[in-house]
Amino acid sequence: MNVTVHGRTRHFRTVTFDRARNVVSLIEQRLLPHEFKIVTAANFRETASAIRDMVVRGAGAIGATAAYGLAQGALAFRGGGLKTFSAHLRLVHQTLKAARPTAVDPVNAMNQVLDVMRRGRTVQERQFLGLAAAEEFAREDVRHCERIGACGAPLIRNGMNILTHCNAGWLAFVDVGTATAPLYAAQAEGKKFHVFCDETRPRSQGATLTAWELAQQNVSHEIIADNAAGHLMQRGLVDLVIVGSDRTLGRTGEVANKIGTYTKAVLAARHKIPFYVAIPLSTIDWNLRSGMDIPIEERDESEVCGAWGVIGNAKSHRRAYLRVANPSSRARNPGFDVTPPGLITGVITPAGIFKPGALWRHRHKLGFSTALSSP
Ligand code: MRU
Repeated sequence: MNVTVHGRTRHFRTVTFDRARNVVSLIEQRLLPHEFKIVTAANFRETASAIRDMVVRGAGAIGATAAYGLAQGALAFRGGGLKTFSAHLRLVHQTLKAARPTAVDPVNAMNQVLDVMRRGRTVQERQFLGLAAAEEFAREDVRHCERIGACGAPLIRNGMNILTHCNAGWLAFVDVGTATAPLYAAQAEGKKFHVFCDETRPRSQGATLTAWELAQQNVSHEIIADNAAGHLMQRGLVDLVIVGSDRTLGRTGEVANKIGTYTKAVLAARHKIPFYVAIPLSTIDWNLRSGMDIPIEERDESEVCGAWGVIGNAKSHRRAYLRVANPSSRARNPGFDVTPPGLITGVITPAGIFKPGALWRHRHKLGFSTALSSP
């Protein structure tokens, strides 16, 4: 998407790959909205750290980063035959996979890369194919988000108030985003609407990232405290909810997404407000049979006990952490929750909008593959 920094507008992608230097380039999302900076990860371990430390975050963006990280690790391999190359790849795959556990996109992305690499007969051929497949995953992510925009835009009518949670915008993907894609498509059609961004504690991706994105795209919006949604819904001020997902179970229609999504789905059902989940095909997990089996990331308690922000003014500022909670208290910090299919009106995919319980029936349209890859 276009970003305007210091009066200059340029198109950026969240993640790109520099073949000449074998580095992954990322927008440093922890600094937004206060500073726009591109950083590089010089090897697969640094790429895994960037995912773990949330320099890059959001299911699709970490999927593409993992795909590039795998290609990067493969390209850095020197010497040896196919056997040692495969052992090296297993290490790279495992390192990147372990960086964040809930989103399935990194695993699906890396499996896609590995499937293509296997067609090569030599290490060099596999290295070449790996990068081509990672580039294709990134391009596909963009195409999927654009299709989600086209499929979801008709849900948005003039004058609507739309609630979204966390950041499922272009920063969470390579470009365009999922929950925001119908918004951007509706805006391009000339529709007028207003967006409520859930603040999304504890890391505040709604207040920092989604609000920044919407401001950059001139979309009318306000940030609300997470606890305000029920009140707004009760007063008839929310017409539609659209969120993203980190893992959607193809067999059951259960949706793992940022902590607090489930609460919003319960509230939306209570107030008969349509609740949609927007996903690219890389977010579907066709294997797991129960949402209770989705690994839920437990994050550091410091995120709950305080907040990161900046102090100073626009010209001179520095990042600072402010402790808010009682100093002697501990905190629990699950990063994601699981919304059951009964609370979801529809899943917006690149192939159309489906009832969550109908994903399995439509699996062949939705990229289901029986091939389960491992390096
Ligand atoms: O912890 P994050 O910031 O990676 O979580 C992001 C979300 O939960 C998004 O809503 C999600 O990734 C779905 S859209 C990619």
